[in-house]
Amino acid sequence: MLKGKKILLGVTGSIAAYKAALLVRILVKEGAEVKVIMTAAAKDFISPLTLGTLTKNPVITDLFKDDAWANHVMLGRWADLMLIAPLSCNTLARMAAGICDNLLLSVYLSAACPVMVAPAMDEDMWKHPATRRNLRTLATFGHHVVQVGTGELASGLYGEGRMAEPDDILKEIVGHFHQQGSLKGKKAMVTAGPTFEHIDPVRFIGNHSSGKMGVAIARELLNRGAEVTLILGPATGELQLEGLDTIRVQTAREMYDACHRAFGETDITVMAAAVADYTPALVAPEKIKKNEEDWSLTLKKTPDILKSLGQMKKDGQTLVGFALETRNERDNALSKLAQKNADIIVLNSLTDQGAGFGKDTNKITVFDRNGGERRYELKSKTEVAKDIVDYIMEYTHA
Ligand code: C5P
Repeated sequence: MLKGKKILLGVTGSIAAYKAALLVRILVKEGAEVKVIMTAAAKDFISPLTLGTLTKNPVITDLFKDDAWANHVMLGRWADLMLIAPLSCNTLARMAAGICDNLLLSVYLSAACPVMVAPAMDEDMWKHPATRRNLRTLATFGHHVVQVGTGELASGLYGEGRMAEPDDILKEIVGHFHQQGSLKGKKAMVTAGPTFEHIDPVRFIGNHSSGKMGVAIARELLNRGAEVTLILGPATGELQLEGLDTIRVQTAREMYDACHRAFGETDITVMAAAVADYTPALVAPEKIKKNEEDWSLTLKKTPDILKSLGQMKKDGQTLVGFALETRNERDNALSKLAQKNADIIVLNSLTDQGAGFGKDTNKITVFDRNGGERRYELKSKTEVAKDIVDYIMEYTHA
């Protein structure tokens, strides 16, 4: 099931390191090529000789050895997946903070491949707010966190925090590779961010959209093999745009034009941008002077991009819109689905704590044309993006 896949396994200092031997054995049995990196603390729990023998590759532990430098960048580039199992509290915190004081962390920071982690720790450490925060940070980096198990712990106590069993980790790895190519050959278009509607050369009407949700969706589609065009409004924060064919636009009209140029070729379209509904009827060529006590601005409606694409949509094209509502949420989302001829509407409510503009988390309910409806918990935007893409794939295969 893993023939030809290159897996870089990072082993850290936790009693669960003994399970790494079994994990390596089943990965190799499934056809993967495995290279192991161990931290100094991991060597107290399991011998490099054991893992080196099972992988038939030398285990790497030091950045510098015998006057040679381990090429951490090449190791990161070699791998199709970097798996850290077990992941200790210490390495988790260092990954979240971007600290780079051993070989494993240097490889991690330079790895271009997807990253999966299987944490292992005692229940009290697992539940500590710092651990919760660090895991959330890893989720925002797009890493896949394998659920811990409940059972007997190294402390002798019973509780949550055991590393997942090697067979379960294998299932997640197989699932990951299966998903990865699932949108190969498909074209996707995603809109993200706000639009800025010019009043004069220095002023505009805008909104607080950060673009994070749309970019997370674009990245998830890309991870699954789709060719993705991102049409991005003037979001100001830092966004991860590597690998995305990004078209920058400013106004609703520019977004409309860019969407219409790309739409004909597109299999999946997700409209996550917070497009301004109104724009100044006239843009003043010079900066407007402050003269009067009162000043009013005439606005005109912007084109509804989603609706216009809904009218052009052909069989085989899937169109997803967003709805941000503050009341009558369900009814408004359902009427948007019909009015705009969309296939799926993702509702996020501003009244939900932690959801919406600028945040790293979101809470959604999804509705589709076939009457489907699913409510999700509050999650990181990266995880929400996975749920949305899963939903789209289920819908298109239904
Ligand atoms: O009608 P409403 O603006 O609430 O609809 C939101 C959905 O429509 C979002 O998917 C948004 O990206 C899209 N939209 C659009 N063009 C507009 C306004 C909203 O495509 N002018």
